Amino acid sequence: MRFETKAIHCGRGVDESTGAVSMPLHTSTTFERGVNGSFPSGFEYTRDGNPTRNAFEAAMAMLEGGEDGIAFASGMAAIAAVFESHPSAGRIVLPDDMYFGIRSLIEETDIGSRFDFAPVDMRDLDALRAAVTSKRTGLVWIETPSNPMIRVVDIAAICAIAHEANALAVVDNTWATPVLQLPLEIGADAVMHSATKYIGGHSDLMAGVVIVPNASPLGRPLRMVQKHKGSVAAPFDCWLALRGLQTLPVRMRAHCEGAQKVAEALASHPRVEKVLFPGLQTDPGHDLATRQMSHYGAMLSFIVEGGADAAMAVAGRLKIVVRATSLGGTHSLIEHRASVEGAKSKAPGGLLRISVGLEHPQDIIDDLMQALGETCKAGVQ
Ligand SMILES: Cc1ncc(COP(=O)(O)O)c(C=O)c1O
Repeated sequence: MRFETKAIHCGRGVDESTGAVSMPLHTSTTFERGVNGSFPSGFEYTRDGNPTRNAFEAAMAMLEGGEDGIAFASGMAAIAAVFESHPSAGRIVLPDDMYFGIRSLIEETDIGSRFDFAPVDMRDLDALRAAVTSKRTGLVWIETPSNPMIRVVDIAAICAIAHEANALAVVDNTWATPVLQLPLEIGADAVMHSATKYIGGHSDLMAGVVIVPNASPLGRPLRMVQKHKGSVAAPFDCWLALRGLQTLPVRMRAHCEGAQKVAEALASHPRVEKVLFPGLQTDPGHDLATRQMSHYGAMLSFIVEGGADAAMAVAGRLKIVVRATSLGGTHSLIEHRASVEGAKSKAPGGLLRISVGLEHPQDIIDDLMQALGETCKAGVQ
């Protein structure tokens, strides 16, 4: 079966009891016992297992080429579960450019004191090797392309370095999705998603999921964190995510085509200092992305001449692109990352991050061009 077919059929089929083609939504929290006390349906209580959630987990496992999926209430719940589940304590090496929520998780919860978190620029494989060997390392966390600097790192090479040091390598595949890259095929020990983003695809659900291969040391611990700590994905969110999956390959193609056009238009604007997008041949991640990904993704950042004030002024003049956090939905969203991330942010002041949505690409470009043009005219430096 090819990916597009799997996205529609995997994890669910026609409902045997009704003939319904669309997967039913099972909201029941509890399931009837047989007279002998058994659970003939295989379901007991929704925190332990739910037909809609199971279908979503199975679909994600098949799409990522794994054995099992474990779905959580959000991407952050999935990330925290991975950190808590990795078999050996000790060091967790992570990228120095990554989703800011992980930094907050480390700084503002007890997870920060339970592990030795070591941030590294993983484009530098020697620096990575030094980080994993200088102290016993249990886990290497990979995010590519990264947030918000849109860096591309070499998943296969990083996994090999992690494995030499007997560490596990887990990839946050939220931005690329299994349409663009399949980390388990090139050495990753698990893949994590914020399904809130492209998997759901419509900015109307919150969920996370971790996919593990057969006999993964993470499989059982993750299932136990899910079940006993109880941060499970809700059936309705899983149902929405299953619906989103059906159009994921088609949406991703359109997102990526639009992003390429938007990136090229921005790159030719005189007031744009730099566009960070691996689809541009001048981008340092271009060759690696060409090898590693089937398209270049639909997340890009650009740096407006004139710093934070100019960037905020551009964002403030947009009429179609919405000023909002998050990504991966049908609406194009723009965000001034430095102000979102706060004082510790490393994002340049002039940086705006765009999630290119599914509007007509020319409308997105026209909107950005008018906002840049008006900002130039107003003379904001
Ligand atoms: C790459 C990445 N990973 C994880 C998350 C966290 O996901 P959630 O917001 O579903 O908790 C996000 C959220 O933006 C993200 O961009």
